[in-house]
Amino acid sequence: MYICVCNAISERHVQEAIAQGAKDLSDLQAQLGVGTCCGQCAETATDYLPGGQYAADAMPPAVEPDHVVQVPMLASTEIRRVA
Ligand code: FES
Repeated sequence: MYICVCNAISERHVQEAIAQGAKDLSDLQAQLGVGTCCGQCAETATDYLPGGQYAADAMPPAVEPDHVVQVPMLASTEIRRVA
């Protein structure tokens, strides 16, 4: 769902910005541009901030993997046509 139609900013964008540390509308404006055109979305965007009615829906911070697994390349498969 779009929160800010003017700047094509979705709910997910707002939730990610908050999960990465945005604390108030000015942070969201600086990071995403939300509410910087017509301003109609500012109140809704604010509802996603801590204490807002949608704050519980905020995503947890992204977790960096502590290791990378190397997956060996599989041998190519020959495809034969069967008559
Ligand atoms: S809808 Fe967000 S600035 Fe217009």
